[in-house]
Amino acid sequence: MLGNFRYHNATTLYFGEDSLQYLNDELQKYGQTVQLIYGGGSIKKNGVYDAVTAILKANGKTIVEDGGVMPNPTVDKLREGVAIARANQVDLLLAVGGGSCCDYAKAVSVSIYCDEDPWDKYFVRFEEPTCKVVPVGCVLTMAGTGSEMNGGSVITNHQEKLKIGHVFGDDVMPKFSILNPRFTMSLPKRQMVAGIYDIFNHICEQYFSGEDDNVSDDLAEALMRSVVRNSLVANEDPQNYEARSNIMWAATWALNTLISRGKAGDWRVHMLGQAAGAYTDATHGMTLAAVSLPYYRYILPYGVKKFARFATRVWDVCPDGKTEGELAEAGLAAMENWMKTLGLAMDLRSLGATEEMIEGIADATFNLDAGYKALTRDEVVQILKASL
Ligand code: NZQ
Ligand code: ZN
Repeated sequence: MLGNFRYHNATTLYFGEDSLQYLNDELQKYGQTVQLIYGGGSIKKNGVYDAVTAILKANGKTIVEDGGVMPNPTVDKLREGVAIARANQVDLLLAVGGGSCCDYAKAVSVSIYCDEDPWDKYFVRFEEPTCKVVPVGCVLTMAGTGSEMNGGSVITNHQEKLKIGHVFGDDVMPKFSILNPRFTMSLPKRQMVAGIYDIFNHICEQYFSGEDDNVSDDLAEALMRSVVRNSLVANEDPQNYEARSNIMWAATWALNTLISRGKAGDWRVHMLGQAAGAYTDATHGMTLAAVSLPYYRYILPYGVKKFARFATRVWDVCPDGKTEGELAEAGLAAMENWMKTLGLAMDLRSLGATEEMIEGIADATFNLDAGYKALTRDEVVQILKASL
């Protein structure tokens, strides 16, 4: 492990079929008024809303409703949530849903006592909160983003055609998250596989950087193997609890700062996918799937050693008689087969992108350079065209 780093995680997790009961204990730590944040209604259909509100009521809490958080939460919805929180002087933001609800709760939490415009301060200037931060708790209903145990908050601004993530510090991370795999069982299959690819790509983003021997990469390989194995079971049998619970736990560890220790990280697929998402509002994991193979094939010659290792250790490609380059390509071919088996989006056009959008998407793509190849804008355009 080269380099120097700190490791701390501020979130307490409760995992398993019985985990919701721990909400009772957690609620004791916070004040009277709870802003109940949820999405477009899935929690009302699958019983999670009733289960959570029963516990809030049993603990004598005042519930302030804040539903309608859309996938890829917008800055307009953020402003609405802040107004609700201010009007009711809420003490806890309880997100019950997927990454969108959890991300949104964090963005509200840093904006309630902030006089400046949250979009400009946090998502354009990337400043840290200087005001009181209202605590966030999470009851997760979709596995994918890792938002339940990280400081990430991604907000979309449709007027400016930008989708931007800010990774906040310990203060903003959920104080607690409740992970009951049963709550994910009502997810439509398309959302389930999008979440699975999101998990896998979070691991790739951290894995495909650097050439040193480090524990983070070993952990990453084990997580990737687990995600692939369990995804194939869940794809055949979505109600398989064992597979879904493994996927949920892997999602948390894929992006909770553990496997990023000692790594620069790439994050190019996310930058491309997020920019495409700003134009199409498509499902996050699908945007990542659509750009991944053109991107990885483009940078493969610059990181061929790591792609060859990825092939043998994650995909069990037999190295016999293969050059490093052939091995690396065989690994990506195996990944492509797996992606097609899951039914992921393999191009941006199927997500609503058009040729006319390419230049705009390229402009909206943040330029990071910690991966194996710094990209020029022309190269970004080339990759986006290959993804179409
Ligand atoms: O809104 P409802 O009705 O709840 O429906 C949601 C939504 O339509 C549905 N859903 C969730 N749980 C369900 C369910 N439907 C039935 N049963 C359930 N149990 O699924 C749809 C998608 O939900 P969403 O929360 O949007 O998905 P996800 O968890 O993938 O979150 C996506 C957002 O997270 C951001 C993405 O950019 C995107 O905005 N990300 C956050 C990250 C972070 N905090 O670190 C990192 C990621 O890379 C990602 O960028
Ligand atoms: Zn992601």
